[in-house]
Amino acid sequence: MKVLVAAPLAPFLRRAVIPPEKEVELLPEGAPLPEGEYAGVVPLLTCRLGEAELARLRGLRVVANFAVGYDNVDVAAARARGIAVSNTPGVLTEATAELTWALILAAARRLPEGEALVRGGAWHGWGPTQLLGMGLGGKVLGLLGAGRIARAVARRAPAFGMTVHYWSRTRRPEWEADAGVEWRELHSLLAESDVVSLHLALSAETARIIGADALARMKPGAVLVNSARGGLVDEPALVAALRSGRLRAAGLDVYAGEPLVPEALRELPNVVLLPHIGSATEEARQGMWDLAWGNVVAVLSGERPLTPV
Ligand code: GLV
Repeated sequence: MKVLVAAPLAPFLRRAVIPPEKEVELLPEGAPLPEGEYAGVVPLLTCRLGEAELARLRGLRVVANFAVGYDNVDVAAARARGIAVSNTPGVLTEATAELTWALILAAARRLPEGEALVRGGAWHGWGPTQLLGMGLGGKVLGLLGAGRIARAVARRAPAFGMTVHYWSRTRRPEWEADAGVEWRELHSLLAESDVVSLHLALSAETARIIGADALARMKPGAVLVNSARGGLVDEPALVAALRSGRLRAAGLDVYAGEPLVPEALRELPNVVLLPHIGSATEEARQGMWDLAWGNVVAVLSGERPLTPV
C-alpha cells in the first residue's frame, strides 16, 4: 500500500512508525501529482487536490490534509469517489491564537515601523509622540467565526482588557454564556469593533467577505487581523483603506495568492506581514503530523478517520 507524502514532511516521517505493509513515496515540493496507485496522500495546504488530481491517484482511500483548513481539497469530488478527507483540528489552535495576538499587538503598537527605525540606524532616542499606537484596554475585539481558534483568541482577550463580540452564521449560546462574549450581526460587528480578527474557513460564501463595503463599515482607525485565509480579504480594497488611513493598521499572516504578496501591501508601513506561520511551533507541527499520519493509518486499517472533515 503506497502512501504519497509531501516531501517537506520528511523530517516527521523519519521519526514515525511506518507499518511494514505501507510504503511511503515523497512528493517533491511544487511537482505535479504523479499518476499511479496510491492508497493515501498527505498533502500540504499548498497542494490543490481537485477532481483531476484525485483521478490521477488510483485506488485512493484517504486524503489526510496537513492543515486544519481544507479549501485546497475538493471534498465533494473526494466524497463522490469514496475517498475520506481529514484535517488537523485542535493541535494548532493555541499556536494560531498566540500568533493572532502577536499580530494584534504588533499592528496596534506599530512594531514593524519601530523595528525598521532601529534596524535602519535612524532612531535618535525616546520621543513623547514617537510611534503612538492604539491601546487595547477597554476596546472591542470583533471576531468573525466561532470555531476553536476564534474561541482560543477570545480566551486571551480579558488579559488585555478587551470585550469580545463575534459574528458567525451559527450562534453559540453556550459559548456566549460561558465566556461572556456577545453575538452581533455582521454589519454591527464591523462598525463597533476596534480590532476585527478573521477566523473563518474559506469557501464560496466567505471569499472576500472583507471587501470595500465591509472595510467602509469598519470603525475609522480600526485594526484588521487575518490569520485564517487570504482569500477572505479583497487585498486591493485593503490597500486602499490602509493608504487612506481609514484603517489604522492591519496584521496579515495569509494572502490571497500565496506566496505572492502584492507589492502595494509590502510598501505600506502600517501593515504587519508574516509568511503564513500561524501553526509554526514545534509542538503544533508535531501534533499536525501525528494527526495526519494517524488519519492515514486509521483509514487504511478500515477504520473511520480520527478527524474527518
Ligand atoms: C494553516 O493554515 C492550516 O489551515 O492549518
